[in-house]
Amino acid sequence: MDQLARKAYAKINLGLDALRKRADGYHELAMVMQTVDICDELTFVVKETPGIELYVEWSKDGWTLTSSDGFPREDEAQPVPSDQKNLVWLAAELLMDEFEVKKGVKITLKKRIPVAAGMAGGSSDCAATLHGINELFGLGLSLKELQNRGVKLGADVPYCLLGGTALAEGIGEILTPLPPMPKCHLVVAKPAVGVPTPFVFKQLRVNELEVHPDIAGMCAAIRDNDLDGVISRLGNVLETAAIPHFPVVGELKEEFKELGADGVLMSGSGPTVFAIFKTEKQAREAADEVKKAGLAAQIFVTKPV
Ligand code: C5P
Repeated sequence: MDQLARKAYAKINLGLDALRKRADGYHELAMVMQTVDICDELTFVVKETPGIELYVEWSKDGWTLTSSDGFPREDEAQPVPSDQKNLVWLAAELLMDEFEVKKGVKITLKKRIPVAAGMAGGSSDCAATLHGINELFGLGLSLKELQNRGVKLGADVPYCLLGGTALAEGIGEILTPLPPMPKCHLVVAKPAVGVPTPFVFKQLRVNELEVHPDIAGMCAAIRDNDLDGVISRLGNVLETAAIPHFPVVGELKEEFKELGADGVLMSGSGPTVFAIFKTEKQAREAADEVKKAGLAAQIFVTKPV
């Protein structure tokens, strides 16, 4: 094989609880993860000469409602690196060094997933690269073997290698697959600010949390295909850390509630907010209103995948 293409899907968190802070600074979490139909695209082409080449492109096709003229695209001012700072590069390097791959690879990354958004875009690109390099050079690593390597690059990478719906525990690497979440329509809105994950975790006072989301109940509701049960258990303790510093997250949540969303929550460490609707019409109308209100730089009407 001398070339292949892979999609890297974004995720949202239906539930995110923090249990304690570990001595190494990471937090023990319990998270319900769900991939959504927003994806980056990666292509991998073998080069006869050694080394990694990475090219990052922005896609402006019909996936977002907000690529129209005049609407801010803040992440163009916050470009994704195309060197060793990109997890894609580090993932390719990790496997190619370990397996002493003599050839090189040219990787093209087409970005659609919002950046520094709480949607695991970087981790998902990283996971797609681990899968891609494994396949391209016939390394023969199993999912578990890729996950053991991926967790060194990011806590969400093992989940992104798996995809779908899953409970993630530990720092994110202990995974229990779940059935797909009940069918629904989602609006995903990313405010015009990037939020670094370490910053939000640093603000979190895990011992002072008064409310913990019902993660076990969320898993049971998913297993029962009970959308109302899912909606009533949406919860993310990182909101307590992010909203005081990024009030736009709270404003977006309020706006979605006023627009009749059945459920609304910040994803991951934010600032992306997602809202659940039972019909596509309601979702599209709400997305248009949020766009008009100027609370988001990128808005997607999407679905779980
Ligand atoms: O592993 P990753 O690079 O994605 O994590 C980014 C940062 O998020 C970590 O450096 C840490 O500050 C925080 N984090 C955490 N507990 C986790 C996952 C991430 O404190 N389980």
